[in-house]
Amino acid sequence: MQTEYVVMTEDSIDSEAILRAGRILKEGGLVAFPTETVYGLGGDALCPSSSEKIYAAKGRPSDNPLIVHVCDADAIPPIISKDLPGCAAGWRKLADAFWPGPLTMIFPKSPMVPYATTGGLDTVAIRFPSNRIAAALIDAAGGYVAAPSANRSGRPSPTSAKYCLEDLDGKIEMIIDGGTVGIGLESTIIDLTGEEPVILRPGYVTRDMLGSVLGRVEVDRAVISDDSSVKPRAPGMKYRHYAPKGDLTIVTWRGESTVGYIRGKLKEACAAGRRTGVICTDETAGEYEADLVRSAGPRGDREENARRLFDILRSFDDEGIEVIWSESFPEEGIGEALMNRLKKAAGGKVADPDGGAV
Ligand code: TXA
Ligand code: MG
Repeated sequence: MQTEYVVMTEDSIDSEAILRAGRILKEGGLVAFPTETVYGLGGDALCPSSSEKIYAAKGRPSDNPLIVHVCDADAIPPIISKDLPGCAAGWRKLADAFWPGPLTMIFPKSPMVPYATTGGLDTVAIRFPSNRIAAALIDAAGGYVAAPSANRSGRPSPTSAKYCLEDLDGKIEMIIDGGTVGIGLESTIIDLTGEEPVILRPGYVTRDMLGSVLGRVEVDRAVISDDSSVKPRAPGMKYRHYAPKGDLTIVTWRGESTVGYIRGKLKEACAAGRRTGVICTDETAGEYEADLVRSAGPRGDREENARRLFDILRSFDDEGIEVIWSESFPEEGIGEALMNRLKKAAGGKVADPDGGAV
């Protein structure tokens, strides 16, 4: 299949291309498009065969449910159950506070949403993205677009259209290039199907922000725990994800001793003839000698660090890097989501320069 590649910006939307893209989706095809978090791979959420095509194009296990994207909060009632548990009843307060934006809410589903889209679950994840290209596309497609991140399964989510092309060229009908995304990590997911609201995946919208609207918010134990035997409630969180081909270890940030530790490891790996990489910050980038040193920006600029992470993780594969050490980042604000993704990429491997490997 020939993949059509179109370029536009949020300020000058190519409405003809959007109409064409909308038609592709209505006819059961697939379109990759920008959102404020990461690029999505869109298909008609109400059409089972479109969802099946999404799984096939990504190489994704079909028990891993898709997020349904809408462009209007009033599109929600038809696709969720009429009998909502107590904690979901207040969803409009969350919508008013965070939509359009990087928050996904999970509800009991109505029969309108096919099981092919929800990975066989009776619940549905829904998000209203703020990117105006995304909103225009969803509208042109009839209002319900299923979209996982537009990467091959297991790879880092795409933060620019070139990565969609790298992973999906020839497998989908169209890619809409809307520039580099603003946030760079996937949406926060909150489960509203139980007694208490529970965060299943951390993101830009933090627990404190959600708590200020809802009062009490829990976090899925699997997100906080370092014990990998705790099963996550979001099926997608159980997979090793984002991982570069090289062997990645996170080194707990303790200033000088972290820099010294990584320098020592680099020396050993270099002597063994291995290709080495480092993930660090602007303050320390000059300290390391490795085949590829990538800075995530100034230490403490958490939003910039988050924006760069997936691009950095992909770059090590391009350079054939075999072993990588990453400084850790503060787990505050979006830093919590950043460290959640980094730990997944490292398969949970963290070393403490003052205490040996953990
Ligand atoms: O920012 C985002 O959320 C991006 C953009 C494109 O919107 N999308 C995204 O989709 O990250 P994806 O498919 O890569 O991740 C969706 C996550 C998976 O971990 C999946 O298991 C979980 O959401 N999920 C979806 N529906 C669910 C449900 N009904 N119950 C529990 N987890 C669900
Ligand atoms: Mg994904």
